[in-house]
Amino acid sequence: MFSFLRTLVRNPLETWPRALFDESMVRLHFAGRPVFMVMDPALVEDVLVSRAALFPKAPIIQRTIGAAVGNKSIFTAEGADWRWQRRASSPPFRHEKILGFVPAMSRAAEATGGRLAAAASPDGIGIDVSEAMMATTFDVIVATMLSGEGGFDTERFSREITHYFDTIGWIAALTVLRLPAWMPYPGKRRARAGNGFLKAEMARVVAERRARPSPAPDLLDFLIQAADPETGRAMTDAELADNLLTFVVAGHETTALALTWALWLTAMSPDVERRVLQEIAEVAGEGPVDAAAADRLVYVRQVIQEAMRLYPPAPLIPRVAAEDLVLGTETIKARTPVYVPVYAVHRHRRLWSHPDSFDPDRFAPDAARGRPRGAYLPFGAGPRICIGASFALIEAVVIFATLMRRLRFVPVAGHWPKPNTRLTLRPDGGLPMTVLRR
Ligand code: HEM
Repeated sequence: MFSFLRTLVRNPLETWPRALFDESMVRLHFAGRPVFMVMDPALVEDVLVSRAALFPKAPIIQRTIGAAVGNKSIFTAEGADWRWQRRASSPPFRHEKILGFVPAMSRAAEATGGRLAAAASPDGIGIDVSEAMMATTFDVIVATMLSGEGGFDTERFSREITHYFDTIGWIAALTVLRLPAWMPYPGKRRARAGNGFLKAEMARVVAERRARPSPAPDLLDFLIQAADPETGRAMTDAELADNLLTFVVAGHETTALALTWALWLTAMSPDVERRVLQEIAEVAGEGPVDAAAADRLVYVRQVIQEAMRLYPPAPLIPRVAAEDLVLGTETIKARTPVYVPVYAVHRHRRLWSHPDSFDPDRFAPDAARGRPRGAYLPFGAGPRICIGASFALIEAVVIFATLMRRLRFVPVAGHWPKPNTRLTLRPDGGLPMTVLRR
């Protein structure tokens, strides 16, 4: 038990047994309590889609994400409390709105590309790709969802999120042991202070916006104007700050990770890289990657999709049984955790041929046809599916194409990045690569 907890704190992914990659459903025991892991696509659909109301978000979400952004924000709320916030947040995520954001995505990518190209000598520069991608997607989220306002200290923002995420393993261990949230653990005070900083930043943005409306409505304006149809209640400033923090964190960290893994996987596969470059040259030429080009970069999109299969930025979807129920052949008692381990579903032996190899052709339209929906779910499924899924895919395609055209990313010899699940699937210690101008 002690070594299990030590591994859970260090890297929860390493506690996942092999059976998750072979079986339909596995019952694990944590501190004498069952936890069901569901991998079979039909059962995954049952949990997340058909009977979603019977499987609300698990307490671990309240203890990890809820502790940072409150239990009433769009990511953490349930039922009617969640529904009106979801509806209120939807306008900026409509397809035509997202297409209007493409120039901002392309500008942020050009800026990163320019910075890296300027710094690179003929031998290249060594950078942490995950850091560079976080900075780029952070710029995009601020430019698109907050009309470019806020004057954030991007590096500090990123650092504080990392401090918070670094303590997730401890929170998971306390939850497994059924210990109360107030218990101390290493890094807790620093994580709390960091979270205080993030919340204060969001509160500042809300206050500034109240004092000075933006010229065109953005996500924050939609949230400010929203009212619960049942009670007529609007969000308080604290709720606005919590939701804003949810969107800023959920909206840049995940996409940055998809890009990070995609750049590394492509650099490891010269054939894929050749096809990517050929497609970008044909579709976008030398001009900016605009909305029409993003739509036609079909192979680039497949690369992003395949990268998210092997390294899903959100590797686990935690739910809990709301009442006694039957799932597949198992009888499950109320309040038992039921988790969808996306990372294992995406590398499952029965669902994918050569599950650990990188092959973007799996997502060619013909190949993807007939695959059960529950076999691939980087954005989740059902009513709680990611609100930013289309935004993220287009953003990743635009940034990837813009950077690949200008720069060559070369893996550092001997460095094999290790995925670590701290809410998101980060490369342990970052992802160092050498960057050269093309
Ligand atoms: C590659 C990028 C992304 C990935 C892999 C991802 C993944 C996910 C997943 C798996 C969920 C569902 C969690 C659950 O059911 O428990 C989710 C929810 C959510 N995501 Fe994303 N996400 C990405 C990008 C974004 C972006 C760009 C935004 C916003 C700008 C965003 C905002 C949200 C929000 C607000 C929710 C909660 C939705 C709700 O409960 O109604 N995400 N995301």
